[in-house]
Amino acid sequence: MPIIVKENLFTLNTKNTTYQFKVGDFGYLYHLYYGPRLFDEDMSYVIIPREQGFSGVCYDAKMIRNISMDLMPQEYPSTGVGDFRFSALGIINNDGSRLVDLRFYRYEILETKPKVKGMPCFRETNECLKVVLKDRYKDIYVELLYSIYPENDLITRSVIILNKTKENIILDKAMSVSFDMQANEEYELLSFYGAHVKERMLERQIIKHSAYEIGSNRGTSSHQQNPFVIIASKNANEDKGEAYIFSLVYSGSHLFHIERNIYDQIRIAIGISPEGFRYNVAPNEAFYTPEVAFSYSNAGFSSLTNNWHKAISKHLINPRFKDYYSPILINNWEATYMDFTEEKLLNLAKKAKSLGIEMLVMDDGWFKNRLSDISGLGDWEVNTDKFPNGLSSFVDKIHNLGMKFGLWFEPEMISEKSDLYEKHKEWVLMAPNREPMRSRYQLVLDLSNDAVIDYIYDKMAKIISETNLEYIKWDMNRSISDVFSNNLPIERQGEVLHRYVLGLYKLLERLTTDFPDLIIEGCSGGGGRFDLGMLYYEPQIWTSDNTDAYERLFIHYGTSFGYPIRTMGAHVSAAPNHQTGRVTPLKTRGIVASHGTFGYELDLLKLSKLEQQEIKNQIKEYVKHRKIIYNGNYYRLSSPYENDFYTSYQFQFGNSGLLYVCFTKIKVAAPQIFIRLKGLDKIGHYKIDNKVYSGLQLMQIGLPIKAPIIDYDSLCLEIKKVRK
Ligand code: DGJ
Repeated sequence: MPIIVKENLFTLNTKNTTYQFKVGDFGYLYHLYYGPRLFDEDMSYVIIPREQGFSGVCYDAKMIRNISMDLMPQEYPSTGVGDFRFSALGIINNDGSRLVDLRFYRYEILETKPKVKGMPCFRETNECLKVVLKDRYKDIYVELLYSIYPENDLITRSVIILNKTKENIILDKAMSVSFDMQANEEYELLSFYGAHVKERMLERQIIKHSAYEIGSNRGTSSHQQNPFVIIASKNANEDKGEAYIFSLVYSGSHLFHIERNIYDQIRIAIGISPEGFRYNVAPNEAFYTPEVAFSYSNAGFSSLTNNWHKAISKHLINPRFKDYYSPILINNWEATYMDFTEEKLLNLAKKAKSLGIEMLVMDDGWFKNRLSDISGLGDWEVNTDKFPNGLSSFVDKIHNLGMKFGLWFEPEMISEKSDLYEKHKEWVLMAPNREPMRSRYQLVLDLSNDAVIDYIYDKMAKIISETNLEYIKWDMNRSISDVFSNNLPIERQGEVLHRYVLGLYKLLERLTTDFPDLIIEGCSGGGGRFDLGMLYYEPQIWTSDNTDAYERLFIHYGTSFGYPIRTMGAHVSAAPNHQTGRVTPLKTRGIVASHGTFGYELDLLKLSKLEQQEIKNQIKEYVKHRKIIYNGNYYRLSSPYENDFYTSYQFQFGNSGLLYVCFTKIKVAAPQIFIRLKGLDKIGHYKIDNKVYSGLQLMQIGLPIKAPIIDYDSLCLEIKKVRK
């Protein structure tokens, strides 16, 4: 049974894990356990009251002196009630006090999971529990929602804060999750930091007696700190150790606050960033937090990752993409930048088609006034100098070649040099009498305003219908500053960033509902908004503007901890690479770009006959292998951070697998490399490169790998089970 309630004890079971909490003395909700699956144990004994100087004790405890929220592990700690750690909820009451004292009120087992209002979340499950807490003094209710996906060891949580008083309340913090754990051993925090062209770099640090903040105040999930973390036991690696992953299903400013106190209790709070956040909740209104998804494994990162990838593919991504393969595309950005004409793109498309490419994606620069990146955003009308017969006529030509067509938009942005700016300056996020910050010379539309959403929707819907558009690349090229909406009153300005994200989701919801066959590729200057919120609407996201094959190995490595490989956009680009100047073999660029949705982003017309032939072969290989890449288990066999000679990974889908090895520079007199494979049947036999090995040999001793013959050499080997 996934949900068991016995008196005051709540047990949530997945296939391999158990999460447990209880209603304790005075109605406090205590967290008891999250770890390997229990049989039917009650973990209440972990609650050991103790008196501690300077810890607050609730008034109703009367003469009892040893129950303090400062020491108790809790499910949803609030402010002002003697817990001096980071709280989950901050409420400013209408008398100005910032206090809320939450106690258990009731619970309910729900037949189906309710949606998180206005936001993406993991999809249907019949295993859902609601636990309601109430302020001891006021009719403020906090509903904790737990949803369970037993087969994938996945649990999600979100919170609804309901104001049943007759007065307005203000939330200045409303985290989605707080999670307390006792850490008698050392634990480590794995987080994924970065920048534009350097996304999701793994950082691993011991959690000391201190506080750590992983977050973004940029209005987007950001390149700088991706919204997921892993907490792992000290020596955890791919194959052993404990690991917990937590990820926020949200695309805006966020905070992961992790602290360890003097008693070695670790608290992790996750939610919308409280920086600048002030949300008014009127009587009888509710505030919904985004959802947090989490999973646990005691068998290391590999098992955590594979459960996690499957959970996202099965329960978050739109089911209509279940059996889909993203079309192999040519994107003209690095081929032409904005310097193109209809004829140039048509020639590019013809060449692409002859090589086996399935879709042309026309990137930035196709619309009116867009001669460079300082103008044109917002009007979304075709540039008739470039396309004298209109956009539809051009798209028809692409369709007539037997190719699909995709189009770049940056819907959330506006250029000052645009008709829209002339007409609707009040639609821009900026405060009266202040000049706004420019970034890439562009400003941000106020997505908290429904009129703006309607405008963008109409513009995009018209083009989608007129051209029978199959694919959109949805870009977003700046962080949000000047957080001020002309559409909201003074007291609601602290709601703007969250309302912006809600507006974005509203727009995506409308477009994906009205055009169900449309594929949207997410992008934000590469992977600046690579998060579970966007993946709910967009089955794939452009992983990075860095297309250098060597640098991509690091980016793919970090991204793979949080997201399935099938969601990662990767393209073969030119050599020397446009971001780094590095020259890598075409073969390696193809191999690295196979780590995800596959495509090309270079001027195919400049390639030699030999290179064109190589591309034809790459496409054939990718098509042959993509079933394994999309559906297989994924194993990081070596880390680019630890191994400066090669990076290796494997996909294994039943009896078929793929082994990839990407080298750095040639090393003289290097030792013979043996790569240990994973996920095989020990007593089975596998054919690789025309030789047969047992699973045990491949996993224990490893596969001998030929030394590279040039710098940045690489290989991809098929693994085929030949007999038991
Ligand atoms: C940033 C994206 O990441 C690029 O791929 C490209 O679409 C440019 N924007 C276009 O302006």
